[in-house]
Amino acid sequence: MGITFFLASLAFLLPSITNATPLEKRATLDDCLSKGSVPTLAAGSADYTQSLKSFNNRVTFKPAAYAVPTTVKHIQDAVACGASNKVQVTAKSGGHSYASHGLGGEDGHLIVDMRNFANVTVDQTAQTAVIGTGGRLGDVATALYKQGKQAISHGTCPGVGVGGLSLHGGYGLISRLKGLTLDNILEIEVVLANSTVVTASETQNPDLFWALRGAGAAFGIVTSFKFKTFTAPESNIVFQYMASPSSASQLSTMLSALQNFTRNTQPPELNMRLFLSAFTTFSGVYYGNRTDFDKLMTPLLTSMGISTGGFSSVTTNAWLDTLTSFSNGPLEQTKPYDTHETFFAKSLMPEWLSPDALTALAKYWDADARANSRAWYLLFDCHGGKASAISNVAADATAYAHRNATFKMQFYDRVYSGEYDAAWFGFLNGWVKAINDASPGVDFGMYINYADTNLTRAEAHEHYWLGHYERLSGLKQVWDPGHVFEGPQLVGS
Ligand SMILES: Cc1cc2nc3c(=O)[nH]c(=O)nc-3n(C[C@H](O)[C@H](O)[C@H](O)COP(=O)(O)OP(=O)(O)OC[C@H]3O[C@@H](n4cnc5c(N)ncnc54)[C@H](O)[C@@H]3O)c2cc1C
Ligand SMILES: *[C@@H]1O[C@H](CO)[C@@H](O)[C@H](O)[C@H]1NC(C)=O
Ligand SMILES: *[C@@H]1O[C@H](CO)[C@@H](O)[C@H](O)[C@H]1NC(C)=O
Ligand SMILES: *[C@@H]1O[C@H](CO)[C@@H](O)[C@H](O)[C@H]1NC(C)=O
Ligand SMILES: *[C@@H]1O[C@H](CO)[C@@H](O)[C@H](O)[C@H]1NC(C)=O
Ligand SMILES: *[C@@H]1O[C@H](CO)[C@@H](O)[C@H](O)[C@H]1NC(C)=O
Ligand SMILES: *[C@@H]1O[C@H](CO)[C@@H](O)[C@H](O)[C@H]1NC(C)=O
Repeated sequence: MGITFFLASLAFLLPSITNATPLEKRATLDDCLSKGSVPTLAAGSADYTQSLKSFNNRVTFKPAAYAVPTTVKHIQDAVACGASNKVQVTAKSGGHSYASHGLGGEDGHLIVDMRNFANVTVDQTAQTAVIGTGGRLGDVATALYKQGKQAISHGTCPGVGVGGLSLHGGYGLISRLKGLTLDNILEIEVVLANSTVVTASETQNPDLFWALRGAGAAFGIVTSFKFKTFTAPESNIVFQYMASPSSASQLSTMLSALQNFTRNTQPPELNMRLFLSAFTTFSGVYYGNRTDFDKLMTPLLTSMGISTGGFSSVTTNAWLDTLTSFSNGPLEQTKPYDTHETFFAKSLMPEWLSPDALTALAKYWDADARANSRAWYLLFDCHGGKASAISNVAADATAYAHRNATFKMQFYDRVYSGEYDAAWFGFLNGWVKAINDASPGVDFGMYINYADTNLTRAEAHEHYWLGHYERLSGLKQVWDPGHVFEGPQLVGS
């Protein structure tokens, strides 16, 4: 064969290699995975179909392949197969991302399901625990408690994966006392884009350690965390009051009083949230005694216009019961996990909502939210302030960019049956816009653990990581120059 003919046929072949159709790509990817003996789920099998059901029914994606590794070597091989076939690789732990980032956040990813990496091993003397990323919070809390009554700070929903939660924040009802979940990580074991396994900590690969704590999904597949644990407090005051603002001005006064209290007065032992919905509740946990609790709460409730009668309750609970009070069901999770909701959500992480912002928020509630018969809510977690352990970590200590947020606000609009109509996005978008418009010159952060499908890439980068984005984007070039770990809202996408 002549050289010209050879080159011509090569040129003819090249485009078909680089522009491989999804089917061709899938075939070579499957081939690679089976060469490495990486366990995968066959498309169409019952397990595969179940595994593709995301927490948010509204947001579903079709992967290129679905791996369920049982060894770290399988993860390394899976990452290598993704990299060599130019298929983006995505770790999935609990699958609770609101935007289904655990399924890639778009079609065509190689999913690495961490379900087999769920061991919880406590060193009771050192008060540390090695926890596999695939564990769900309720199971993790139970396993920690069984080993010397140990605990970590984590979120409230027992089905959430410890992987996604810890890599991007992790706020719960002991966070003002013990920090975010990610503040308690001592070491991270991670499979990098080139399939190398490294440990990241304050002393080993510290820049990677920094990036993993706040933006982890873009930097590798984490197999386990080593956490600092604490002995669970056994006598905790769990409270819930009904709040019933009846006008926009009452609501804005209530929020103003709460904001002032959280910023200036709320001690770390007091952890709480206002859940604004058709039935508004104010609830939380106090890690102290009843006398001190009453001293704090009585003036606060008065300033918020909340009465203590009716369905309010104040009880004293042991640790696991304290967690169960906020878990909407048992801590221990059944397999396969099968709880789902159909919703759209947004977030805001304000340091301060000005009187104008509070007025705009309350007016929108009065005019639009109260008329919405879907199951919407707006949750104000009392996240920061002078005495919060979260705010007392230096702003640049980790990639988490919201240390100074007083409230962690979650806007949620859901339906109990049928599909969520795209025409309804305007409801929450409009609420956030009303607050933004009333806050000129302020650039509020947003929380990627409440991933908002309505954000463009640029908006996601800006609001999720604020002033940390530039450093993160530089580190992405170092640790994942080939963009193996991608997603529509992740660092570097
Ligand atoms: C019902 C419910 C309640 C919640 N309550 C709270 C709460 O109280 N506090 C709070 O802070 N948040 C809360 N969240 C938000 C939750 O923290 C996030 O949705 C979190 O990202 C879920 O983690 P996951 O592992 O379950 O999700 P996944 O969808 O599996 O993963 C989320 C992201 O993390 C990445 N990721 C997961 N595992 C790994 C890994 N091993 N290595 C690298 N990247 C990984 C994924 O690729 C994806 O980008 C709640 C969510 C739900 C649905
Ligand atoms: C989890 O623990 C079991 C029992 O000790 C062990 O066989 C298994 O290899 C562990 N898995 C991982 C991923 O470490
Ligand atoms: C909150 O504090 C501000 C001043 O910092 C004050 O103007 C406002 O009235 C306070 N709100 C309430 C409800 O006490
Ligand atoms: C409650 O705790 C405080 C310390 O915060 C202590 O001084 C006080 O004596 C305790 N009161 C009761 C009734 O136990
Ligand atoms: C704190 O929040 C405000 C917005 O309310 C922002 O302008 C400021 O830069 C933030 N400071 C830090 C250190 O993040
Ligand atoms: C966000 O939602 C609005 C509707 O409120 C829609 O017009 C817009 O296209 C959406 N943007 C993105 C990036 O999804
Ligand atoms: C893998 O990537 C890391 C980070 O870029 C680099 O330090 C390391 O040398 C690489 N290892 C190999 C074997 O290429």
